[in-house]
Amino acid sequence: MCGIVAYIGSKPALPILMKGLKRLEYRGYDSAGIGVLNSDSASIETVKVVGEIRGLDNKIKEAGTTQNSSLGISHTRWATHGEPTETNAHPHLSVGGKIAVVHNGIIENYAAIKKILLSEGVEFVSETDTEVIAHWVSRFYKGDLGEAVLEALKSLEGAFGLAIICRDEPDTLIGARRGSPMALGLGDDEIFLTSDISAVIEHTRKIVYLEDNDVVKVNRAGFTIQSIENRRTVSREMQQIESGLEIAQKGDFPHFMLKEIFEQPEALRNCTRGRLLLGDGNAKLAGLDSSLRELRSIDRIIITACGTSYYASMVGEYLIEEWAGIPVEVEYASEFRYRNPIIGTNTLVITVSQSGETADTLAALKEAKQKGATVLSICNVVGSTIARASDGGVYLHAGAEIGVASTKAFTAQVVVLSLIALLLGRQRRLSHAQGIEIANAINSLPNLVEQTLKLNDEVLAIANCYYNSTNFLYLGRHYNYPVAMEGALKLKEISYIHAEGYPAAEIKHGPIALIDENMPVVVVAPKDALFDKIVSNARAIKARGGKLIVVTTSDCSPIDEFADHIIHIPAANPALTPVIASVPLQLLAYHIAVLRGNDVDMPRNLTKSVMVE
Ligand code: F6R
Repeated sequence: MCGIVAYIGSKPALPILMKGLKRLEYRGYDSAGIGVLNSDSASIETVKVVGEIRGLDNKIKEAGTTQNSSLGISHTRWATHGEPTETNAHPHLSVGGKIAVVHNGIIENYAAIKKILLSEGVEFVSETDTEVIAHWVSRFYKGDLGEAVLEALKSLEGAFGLAIICRDEPDTLIGARRGSPMALGLGDDEIFLTSDISAVIEHTRKIVYLEDNDVVKVNRAGFTIQSIENRRTVSREMQQIESGLEIAQKGDFPHFMLKEIFEQPEALRNCTRGRLLLGDGNAKLAGLDSSLRELRSIDRIIITACGTSYYASMVGEYLIEEWAGIPVEVEYASEFRYRNPIIGTNTLVITVSQSGETADTLAALKEAKQKGATVLSICNVVGSTIARASDGGVYLHAGAEIGVASTKAFTAQVVVLSLIALLLGRQRRLSHAQGIEIANAINSLPNLVEQTLKLNDEVLAIANCYYNSTNFLYLGRHYNYPVAMEGALKLKEISYIHAEGYPAAEIKHGPIALIDENMPVVVVAPKDALFDKIVSNARAIKARGGKLIVVTTSDCSPIDEFADHIIHIPAANPALTPVIASVPLQLLAYHIAVLRGNDVDMPRNLTKSVMVE
């Protein structure tokens, strides 16, 4: 979602804010802004732009913004309330410009608060919920910004990560958090406040994560944290972030997405390193070590997630049921949280989230815990809210994923789920020999993905034939049904082409009516137990003029006789084929989007972590 970077210290704030914003741009990129305190004129200077951060750089120069300020806040926005305009961009100021606020999240009762403020004569300039915060804090301001924020936030409902400064307090930066992550980075004589530590990690590795309902008062000498609920001072542990957060660079790749697609062999090696016991035919997952006994007695699993993580979870469902014999349900976190899910004493809930910050998934986790479930999480971002709120879990170790369209996180999620399925399976019905076979199959995945990436040019040639299409269908069966769903999602989010994923046999129940010579259909049909069945489904498409792009393994007769294009992926254990088969679909989506002239790293209307409902 949006990103926040704020600074108080002895150095010029602007370059630090701008560099930090650039690191966070993938989280929101429809507009951006900075606010710095000009102590000479006792004013807060703000500069805002619509569009990308580089535009902000130019505008700051044109505006002659003060360069010597050592206190500032900044924001990159993904619009929720109000269009992406300069007026709606953050920071938002209170009347007279005394207080400036940047905000991640949504204030749910902003309309009620706005009504009070309007009745008191406050004039609003933007359509945002954030502007309400600026005026509301100002209403409580009596010379102490921290006190005003504590008072004001008591009546705000919804989610917020906030950074706030005041014209009259050159040595104060206030941060707050409820449902939207915020952390402090502690330097020498300087403190950073951010929604995502990747923005400050080049300056310091000493991090203090705020918890929900914390308000932090920061000055150049240090900080204190108080609870919004009872004003008590609370202490939060400082964590030394060692590694795993190296700054992501595109290197020689034109886009982060392509780089991350090609990083998959390495990401999967990191993901499996030290976790496969090839001789025992088992998996060892440190994050689950303390729960092994408990895992032995679970009799049902609910996996909950959103988007791409949901499709990875669907593969996990097949794997766990097949290898461990435990019934699994996969549910959209946004649905789970508002149902009244039935969670028995032996039900395990697993949340899957690349960012570890997705609001719906976090809410589902809380609901599951409320009902007494043990919750494990599978996250990529170390220290993320979901990871910290879980009873245990497994990190992907896939490295930072910057491309908004998830690629390496998806394959790593499937691999982690396969490790969990193996572990649960070995506790139950998998023999030693079966365990060894599966462990070796998982171990071979990075090399197989490496081979699959050599298909890039072939996939590009296919993309050239279809980039002007207006619709696509993606079909798969069994383990590869989720691959079809994920392939369609990838295409729509970066190419803006309408695409649907279906279980291949379902199309005869309706969608086959869509097939004509203008409909490219991607069929994921490796040579497995259902190959003959999916060949029949593909024939039905061909008979109606559809263009067939088939992802299959070698020895794929007779489908090669009537397909328009064949993509030969290397053969893998059928249950693990989703990891391999999803790679050409990622490449297809990527090339089609690039050929259409889209910015694949910053697709329209999207954001990397969805921290709102
Ligand atoms: C699609 C994509 C999204 C995310 C979804 C959940 O490429 O990235 O569909 O998968 O927003 O995000 P996480 O996994 O961070 O919870």
